[in-house]
Amino acid sequence: MEQRSQWGSRAGFILAAVGSAVGLGNIWRFPYVAFENGGGAFFIPYLFALLTAGIPILILEFTMGHKYRGSAPLSFFRMGGKKAEWLGWWAVFVSFVISTYYAVIIAWAMKYTVYSVNQAWGEDTAGFLFGTVLKLGDVPGEAGGLVPGVAIPLLLVWVIVLIILFAGIKKGIELANKIFIPTLVILFLLVVIRAVTLDGAGLGLTAFFEPNFSELSNPAVWVAAYGHIFFSLSIAFAIMITYSSYLPKKSDITNNAFITGFANSGFELLAGIGVFSALGFMAASQGVAVADVATAGVGLAFVVFPQIISQFPGMNGLFGVLFFLSLTLAGITSLISICETYVAGFSEKFGLSRNKAVTLGVGLAAVISFLFATNGGLYFLDVADYFINQFGVAAIGLVEVIAIAWFFKKLPLFQDHANAVSDIRLGAWWNICLKFVTPLVLGYMMFGLLKMNLLQEHTNADGEIIGNYEGYSNSFILYCGWFVAAGAIILGFVFSAIKWNKNTDVDAYQHDNE
Ligand code: ALA
Repeated sequence: MEQRSQWGSRAGFILAAVGSAVGLGNIWRFPYVAFENGGGAFFIPYLFALLTAGIPILILEFTMGHKYRGSAPLSFFRMGGKKAEWLGWWAVFVSFVISTYYAVIIAWAMKYTVYSVNQAWGEDTAGFLFGTVLKLGDVPGEAGGLVPGVAIPLLLVWVIVLIILFAGIKKGIELANKIFIPTLVILFLLVVIRAVTLDGAGLGLTAFFEPNFSELSNPAVWVAAYGHIFFSLSIAFAIMITYSSYLPKKSDITNNAFITGFANSGFELLAGIGVFSALGFMAASQGVAVADVATAGVGLAFVVFPQIISQFPGMNGLFGVLFFLSLTLAGITSLISICETYVAGFSEKFGLSRNKAVTLGVGLAAVISFLFATNGGLYFLDVADYFINQFGVAAIGLVEVIAIAWFFKKLPLFQDHANAVSDIRLGAWWNICLKFVTPLVLGYMMFGLLKMNLLQEHTNADGEIIGNYEGYSNSFILYCGWFVAAGAIILGFVFSAIKWNKNTDVDAYQHDNE
């Protein structure tokens, strides 16, 4: 059997895992999710989701990858044969979809890094984003033409990803993270330090940290917290199983998971502090409430931030470049981990060389990604992101814990495996969270989500029913939302029906420590 690639050091693995976790989710997504879900009120569900689902599942996935030493499909196969393999593929295809639009947001961030130099967005930042940059069409669901201003940076993103992935685990992914993550931390700390020292920062921080306990009875806030934790920690989309499969045999699991989880949340907290301080500054300078300056949705980073950058008391360009460069770096280190899931899966399943798997997998994702660089791109992105997160990532999280804890009954085996190599010992907390708390909360949440989407009960900010998600048409929701989410599961079953390449030793590592 070909020698499996390995990380060069423990620090290399941790940096790669943190690099995967810290991504657009932390800087682009977290502030608007937190803001839309009650600001400070979001903290309690967020912490709850982190401690009962996020970190326990991260430990579970690290253990699986370390024990079975395979991509997600191979690890699931080694755990439970064909009955489990499809779950690994499902996660891989969810990752595939995410990679196609994730790259596009990085492309926007790259463009905005350049625009920051002279604040090219002018006064009307929303008009600039939707009109000048994205050239957004009027009808959701219609692609229109390719927007070269987005397509060109998008191509650049894929070239960078290809270069890193071709270079392999140690010389590619590990090296890139060793350079990008420390750089990111320094750049982002500068952004946050500047933001909290702005006039009015306190106003924003109060809005961010002030708990609004009445929001806690709102199930949507809990749903958002769980959904966000999964996305942010890169769990339930095959990534952490793949990354930990490259760990040497003698590697700590539990401690590494805690370090990764807390580093990710620490970064996210930092992002929240930075973003809300800046929002406070803007609210104070306009004499309005923080809630009035923060827009909801995907535009926050690209509409409100440019406004803030323009209003800065000095060195506007530098601040802008630091912010958007941070977003770009955080995005790239995550995107490579998302792509590595299918590179590893395809190469093991079909016996492809790494280079062939990278060319095929990433090449295909790149081609599809150009759909999001069309006039209708933002609408496609919005719907695909919503559906693939709720009915992809969060749904896999639910099925994964139920399958492993209840169907395959592997928790005791995994607990022994993790405890044999880790400093921190797993006990009741881990078992109770995975067996009971997470399935119950996620199950309840999934039920509510299905109901809301099937019965078209989405509401707007004023609580009025608007039908489908964002009020989009049925046909658009059907083909861009449901079909995409269902497609990932169907492909999961199709791929698990295909035979493994004869050179892949599918029976290896199954009985270690049993
Ligand atoms: N975990 C990655 C992020 O937060 C996917 O963006």
